[in-house]
Amino acid sequence: MNYHVLTLFPEMIEQGMGHSITGRAIKNEHIHLNVMNIRDFTENKHRKVDDYPYGGGAGMVMQPQPVYASYEKAKEIIQQQGGSKKTKVIYLTPQGRTFNQEIAKDLAKEENLIFLCGHYEGIDERVLEEIVDENISIGDYVLTGGELAALVMMDAIARLVPEVLHNDISAEIESFSDGLLEYPQYTRPVEWHGKKVPEILLSGHHANIEAWRKEQSYKRTLERRPDLLENN
Ligand code: ADE
Repeated sequence: MNYHVLTLFPEMIEQGMGHSITGRAIKNEHIHLNVMNIRDFTENKHRKVDDYPYGGGAGMVMQPQPVYASYEKAKEIIQQQGGSKKTKVIYLTPQGRTFNQEIAKDLAKEENLIFLCGHYEGIDERVLEEIVDENISIGDYVLTGGELAALVMMDAIARLVPEVLHNDISAEIESFSDGLLEYPQYTRPVEWHGKKVPEILLSGHHANIEAWRKEQSYKRTLERRPDLLENN
C-alpha cells in the first residue's frame, strides 16, 4: 500500500502516522508514505497557495495550480514505482460519502491512494473536477482541514493491509468486521476494585468461551448500536 498525501501541513501527517502500528508498518515497509507539501509546487515567489473567492464571501480558496502540480508529481512517483493502475484520488470533505469499515475494506485493495487535504474555505472547483475520484467525509462535523480526516482513513485502511497487524486474526474479530461490536475483554488481575473476571473465561473451555463471546457481542450491539442489527 502506497499512501500519497497532498497537504499544506506535512508535519501533521508525518507525526500522525509515525507512531504505534502505522509507524511500525512504515518502518517495515508494509506501507509507504509519501507526503507532499502543496506549497512547494507554487509558481509565485511568495509561495502563495490561496486567493480571494470570485463572487466574494468569507475566507480564502486554494488555487488550482499548486494542487494540480503536486498531484502530477504524485502520479510521476507512482509511474516510477511501476505505474500501477490501482490508484484512487480521495478528497477529504464534509460533502463526501461517510467513511466506514466497508469503504476501508474496498480502499485497502488499491495499490496507491492519493489523499488531497484542503484548508481555508476549500479548493478551486476546477482542479477537483479534474483529479478527484472520490469525495469522502469522516462524519457530520466540520474540521479545519482534511489532514485529521486523511489520518483517520489511513489508520483504518492500514490495519486491513496484510502483515500490518502482527496478529492477523485481530482484524477479523474486532468490532464491525462481522457487523457486531466486540465482546468485552479482561486481563490480570482476576479481581480488581471488587470486580471479578467472568468465570467462564477462566474455564479453559474454548467452545463455551466462544459462545459466551458471541452472545456478549450481540447483547452489546443491541444495547449500544441497535442500528447495526437492523442493517444485517
Ligand atoms: N474536512 C473538513 N471537515 C471534514 C470532514 N468531516 N471529513 C472529511 N474532511 C473534512
